[in-house]
Amino acid sequence: MTSCIILSMAIVVSAAKDSATHVPPDFQSDYSYSKPGFITTIESEASKDVGKAFLFHGEASKDVGNTSITFEGSLRRRKIAGRRGKGRGRGRRCRVADGTKCQFSRCGRGKLLPRCATGFASGVVGGRRGLSYTVTSHNDSLSNPAPGTLRYGAGLAYSNPRGVWITFSRDMTIRLRTQLLVWNHTTIDGRGFKIIITQSNIGMSGVENVIIHNLQVSGIYGGTGDTVHIFNSRKVWVDHLTCFDGENGLVSAVEGSTDITISNCYLANNNFNMLLGAEDTDIVDKDMRVTIYRNWFKNSNQRMPHCRWGYCHVVNNLYANWGLYAISARENARILSERNVFVAGIKPEVTQWSSDYNSQSDITPRIVSKGDLLLNGARFHEFLHFGRAGAPPYRRPRNYPPVVKPGKLFRLIGRCSGALVGKRIRSCFLYG
Ligand SMILES: *[C@@H]1O[C@H](CO)[C@@H](O)[C@H](O)[C@H]1NC(C)=O
Ligand SMILES: *[C@@H]1O[C@H](CO)[C@@H](O)[C@H](O)[C@H]1NC(C)=O
Ligand SMILES: *[C@@H]1O[C@H](CO)[C@@H](O)[C@H](O)[C@H]1NC(C)=O
Repeated sequence: MTSCIILSMAIVVSAAKDSATHVPPDFQSDYSYSKPGFITTIESEASKDVGKAFLFHGEASKDVGNTSITFEGSLRRRKIAGRRGKGRGRGRRCRVADGTKCQFSRCGRGKLLPRCATGFASGVVGGRRGLSYTVTSHNDSLSNPAPGTLRYGAGLAYSNPRGVWITFSRDMTIRLRTQLLVWNHTTIDGRGFKIIITQSNIGMSGVENVIIHNLQVSGIYGGTGDTVHIFNSRKVWVDHLTCFDGENGLVSAVEGSTDITISNCYLANNNFNMLLGAEDTDIVDKDMRVTIYRNWFKNSNQRMPHCRWGYCHVVNNLYANWGLYAISARENARILSERNVFVAGIKPEVTQWSSDYNSQSDITPRIVSKGDLLLNGARFHEFLHFGRAGAPPYRRPRNYPPVVKPGKLFRLIGRCSGALVGKRIRSCFLYG
């Protein structure tokens, strides 16, 4: 597998190009979100829920059990809040009314998962038409991957033109020895178990049609790249991922990648969070289209996201405590920030704006805020020097993600973001 090694090296080199700033010292301490009176503004619904929502994630993570069997039953009884009354015949028709819960309902069960995709990655099918493969061993070996391991399964898509759909047989922690490369038409579907991938990252380069779903990928150190590193690839859906504590970025899409949706992820405790377009000279990214939807960006210093050249639709996300900035752009990028919640922690400015911004600065990006909810003193400085961002260029109107009022995001994202297993799924459906 010489090609693997070459690709890994290419990824390391590119990752190193964009790693200038370090986390400021005051950023290391965890900000207390549950302080009484923390929320100072607007929407009573939001302030009522915020304390609970933030506490919840901490409690929940202790509690990711293997009780997923019970949730199907409880779902059926409730008939899924988001869908009730929309489809006829008691919900038999699965209209994808909710870009968060569909994945865990009967509508998105098994290889029906792709119908839950929304945003620019709509139409992705991953390995639906390919081999079915179950990971039974947490072992990893680069030189001689054994059948039953994740690396062996991912490699199957290299030679199989229809790709592979990978599931897991039990809870497991996989310590990758080096970057895991994902090929064309691949789904890694972690539903049903608590799957943790650590030590090395997941990468893709020059591929299309990939779904990465319901995993924790965390603690990626040692220069293998960003936690999920997407190079020159298209139609990629990264969904319900729990990512934190990486040496580099968490999820990034660079060097000609497009038609990507990053949704329902819990992305926390990092300096560089999400880089979309890595270099000012990467004109190839002018066709980049990324949907960033219902993610929880928490305790991170910068890049949530940082966009270059392309169009970034940042819609219905929850932001809590950023450092340098939350959102920024360069090189003609367009960002529509729509109905997000920004809860300021140590810094108020959402965008990378300062009073000495002048004609020497890159004023080409357009950053527009539409219906965002700004809390705890958060301020949003729009960038309109070259006009407005325009509507997101979805191919079909129905690819536009379902948008809720930002006040609802505390519960929804607080309960439903990241990898969901067992009680957390039930909690998402009952209270999210
Ligand atoms: C959950 O996992 C534990 C240990 O892995 C096992 O003992 C228990 O039977 C499992 N419970 C269910 C409901 O599968
Ligand atoms: C994992 O690898 C170890 C050492 O190479 C081996 O002894 C063990 O049998 C493997 N486990 C499985 C489930 O393949
Ligand atoms: C994956 O798909 C891309 C785009 O269709 C193609 O150029 C590339 O050769 C494929 N890779 C493999 C390993 O088949």
